[in-house]
Amino acid sequence: MNFVAALNEAAAKNLRTLEEQIRQAISEDPFIFAACEPLIRGGKRLRPMLFMLCANAKTACPPEKTMPLATALELIHTASLVHDDIIDTSKRRRGVETANSKYGAQIAVLIGDYLFAKAFQLVAENDYGAEVSSILSKLVKNLCVGEIMQDRSLFVVPTMTEYYTRINLKTAIFLSSCCKLGAVVAKAPSREVENLTAYGAGLGLAFQIIDDLLDFFGDETVTGKPHGGDLKSGVITLPVIRALEVSGDADKLKALVTRGEVTAEDIDAAIKIIRATDAVDYCRTRAEAHIEAARVNLPLTLKTSVSLALEQIADFVVDRTR
Ligand code: FPP
Ligand code: MG
Repeated sequence: MNFVAALNEAAAKNLRTLEEQIRQAISEDPFIFAACEPLIRGGKRLRPMLFMLCANAKTACPPEKTMPLATALELIHTASLVHDDIIDTSKRRRGVETANSKYGAQIAVLIGDYLFAKAFQLVAENDYGAEVSSILSKLVKNLCVGEIMQDRSLFVVPTMTEYYTRINLKTAIFLSSCCKLGAVVAKAPSREVENLTAYGAGLGLAFQIIDDLLDFFGDETVTGKPHGGDLKSGVITLPVIRALEVSGDADKLKALVTRGEVTAEDIDAAIKIIRATDAVDYCRTRAEAHIEAARVNLPLTLKTSVSLALEQIADFVVDRTR
């Protein structure tokens, strides 16, 4: 399934408007449009959709109140991916060549900065107020801290706690902030803001665990990026951490992932060792536990259509192939 199948008619209409708004946001400069349009095209729109669903959780929130911020969230996400690909020297993303591969790191940094600046322009020009700006600033700070934490410990095996801290900063806080922003823009009572934020946090942890599994075992033609990318750039994730705990070949795996240079044969050898353990099932079970925690936090007071969509997004996150 895809996200769109999880949406009711009103939400699907909002998504179509969002696509137009995103294109418009990158249309001011011809070079930026040419560089960003292919990148923007392949996104799942999970973040803006979570925001819009939470903003419409009890009563309809007018699109003029949600669209600029929804667009800004997708632009911030894309900016972070453009910068992430520079850091990781990745060549493919969302099924197309990355900005750094196409234009070089110097221009790619500026493309990311442009998208980021455009996002904050949309927020500033639409009177969202200090609380929204504060949530956005904190989520971006956390993204940066998560990424710095990751890049300061490349080719080093993290503890489970370090891994969870990292994926919380890198991903879960972004998704929980999208839910929180929706509830805040809709002026929901504080209990509901907290519950929707907790839903997003569980969803985010599960999302990143599945992302880390797909990095090893996903179909490249579906994920849009080559597999083994994390190991290649020295990022050690849950499938490896778990395999190191239980594998008879743990010493061999550890040597492969910490040597500082990973070849295509190393990736195949690591995958073989991981597959021979319970690591894949373990990661799935962990992701499902976080999804369950997310579901438990869904307030009972939401509109049925929104509640259903958020439930189905939870299903999608663990079943997804991209
Ligand atoms: C992708 O995750 C990347 C992130 C979740 C965050 C990257 C954040 C930054 C570069 C700092 C913030 C920058 C700005 C401009 C807001 P991943 O590397 O686990 O997944 P992947 O396999 O898709 O690359
Ligand atoms: Mg990356």
